[in-house]
Amino acid sequence: MRLVFPRRPRYTEIAMNEQKPDAHAKTSKRERLQSLLARDPNVLACPVCGAALRLSREASALCCARGHCHDIAKKGYVNLLGRGGGAKGVYDAAFFANRRAAFGFGLYEEAARRIAALAKELLRPAETGGQIERAGAIRALDAGCGEGYFAFALSRDASPGAVCRFYGLDLSREAIAMATDYEADIAWIVGDLAKPPFRDGAFDLVLNVLSPASYGAFRRILARDGVLIKVLPGPDHLRELRALRGELEGGRSGEGAREHVERHMRVAERASVRYFRALRPEQKKVLPAMTPLTAGKTPDPVALDSLRRVTVDLEIVAGRPL
Ligand SMILES: C[S@@+](CC[C@H](N)C(=O)[O-])C[C@H]1O[C@@H](n2cnc3c(N)ncnc32)[C@H](O)[C@@H]1O
Repeated sequence: MRLVFPRRPRYTEIAMNEQKPDAHAKTSKRERLQSLLARDPNVLACPVCGAALRLSREASALCCARGHCHDIAKKGYVNLLGRGGGAKGVYDAAFFANRRAAFGFGLYEEAARRIAALAKELLRPAETGGQIERAGAIRALDAGCGEGYFAFALSRDASPGAVCRFYGLDLSREAIAMATDYEADIAWIVGDLAKPPFRDGAFDLVLNVLSPASYGAFRRILARDGVLIKVLPGPDHLRELRALRGELEGGRSGEGAREHVERHMRVAERASVRYFRALRPEQKKVLPAMTPLTAGKTPDPVALDSLRRVTVDLEIVAGRPL
């Protein structure tokens, strides 16, 4: 597998209030999801019994043959978590709001561009010289999508020309409810990536950005020629924020995660994305609470104010889960 990062023009920062109304403007979020699910019927599996899920006759719920039904929320997502679950630890509504603010000022823009370019290359159908053999629509899932930024970037920039269906999955209902704000044809699902509510081999691509991974589950839901893109923090990721807390630990981060990847993936290719982002005063405030590296820990405000820039250092790894 050869991964290429084509040069592409810089795109504008993603912010909800910058998005232009489009052809979907008159469609409610719920109707949009109903239409996506109707067009792609053989993907979802019941979280209770694993049987195929289909839209009910009134399209108000997804039901399996055993009668387990899961309502489609007015907000335009479906909760396939079953009872309990939801946001855990630092991943509360404030975390996702701060993360969205950081996305809005472009902190991860370059990273999103590189990930989408790679995904686009990997999703090319065999008839155009790519490696996807599937007949019919190509499918991509962002597993652990949070408030939806990278799934949105995928849906906007990674489509390889063939018909593509995009899904976003997260454990947090708050995050998924926020994700439905993106103007995009993405099916947003609340669910557990360790027990993903999808049928075997449903996806050509699973993306997993700065989130926990479940390699066995990813292998199950990937097609035979499907690919996992795992994005994890590089040694210097947000080092200025960690330094504020005296948590540089010899200057390296994510070592455990990198070893874990080596043990659980047959890595075909890797790339690193590293850049600095200058910070304006109002941008500094959201940073500590938008990353699990520092969320829930109050930094010294004077030290925070002294920050001039922050490092984004990510590793992008592509291959097959073992
Ligand atoms: C650091 S956030 C990253 C979110 C998103 N990829 C982004 O970069 O904004 C980690 C995410 O993993 C999600 N998560 C944690 N455990 C999960 C699980 N078992 N199933 C699905 N999502 C999970 C959290 O809810 C959170 O949204």
